[in-house]
Amino acid sequence: MLRKLLAALTAAAALIAVLPGNAGASVPRESVVGGTRAAQGEFPFMVRLSMGCGGSLYSSRLVLTAAHCVSRTGTNTSITATLGAVDLQSSSRITVKSNYVYRAPGYNGNGKDWALIRLATPVTGLATLPIATGTAYNTGSFTVAGWGAATEGGAQQRYLLKATVPFVPDATCDNSYPDLVASDEICAGYTAGGVDTCQGDSGGPMFRRDAQNAWIQVGIVSRGNGCARPNYPGVYSEVSTFASAIAAAAASLGG
Ligand code: ARG
Repeated sequence: MLRKLLAALTAAAALIAVLPGNAGASVPRESVVGGTRAAQGEFPFMVRLSMGCGGSLYSSRLVLTAAHCVSRTGTNTSITATLGAVDLQSSSRITVKSNYVYRAPGYNGNGKDWALIRLATPVTGLATLPIATGTAYNTGSFTVAGWGAATEGGAQQRYLLKATVPFVPDATCDNSYPDLVASDEICAGYTAGGVDTCQGDSGGPMFRRDAQNAWIQVGIVSRGNGCARPNYPGVYSEVSTFASAIAAAAASLGG
C-alpha cells in the first residue's frame, strides 16, 4: 500500500518535473503528436506503461523506456504494461505486470534518460524493436508514436498516434536547449513546430528504417519545451550512445 502510494507520488513528481514552465500561458498550441492514427499491428513493439509513459519492446520480457518514467532500480511489481493493441481499451490487448526496474546508473535528470522494465511473464507474438548500435541512423526522418497528449496540456489518448519528424543537428538544437547533453541526446522536429511528441509519450521510441528496411530505434522520448512549439524540437535520448549499456543491463536482467 505504502509502496503503491510512493510509486504514484514519484510518477506524479516525474510528470510535474517535465511539465512546461508556462503551461498556464494563454497561447493555445495545436501541438499534434501524430495527427494520424497508427493502424493495428503497424508498430507491434509499442508499449503503454501505467505510470503514463510509453515504451518499446526490447525483448519478450524487457521494455525500454525513459529513466524519468521510473523511480529507482530494484524490484517493482506495480507497473502494468499494455501491449498488442493501438486501442488501449481493446479486448484483445495484452496486459502484463512488471517485476523489476533498471534505471540508468548515474541518472540525475541530465542525459542518461533510459531504463528497462522487466515483465513478470514474457509476451509472445509481438515483434521487438532493435536498437541502433552505432551513429549511422542518427539522421534523416524519424517516426514517433505514443498515447500521450495530442495538444500541449491536452489529455492522454485512447488510440495510438504517430508522426514523422526530421533530425535536428546538435549545433542547431543547442540554440534552443543550452543544457543539451549532445553526447546523450538527439533532437527532432520542424523549425515551424506543429509536429512533436508530448507529455505521456515519454519513454516511447523514436525510430526509422534501417538499410534492410526494418525498423530500428534511434531515440527515447525524453523532454521538450512545451510541445510542437516553433524552434523547440523534441529532445530524445540518443540510443546509440547507450546501446552497449542497455545490452549489458538487459543481459543482467536475464535478456
Ligand atoms: N517528458 C515528457 C513526458 O514525460 C515528454 C516530453 C516530450 N516533449 C516534447 N516536446 N517532445 O511524457
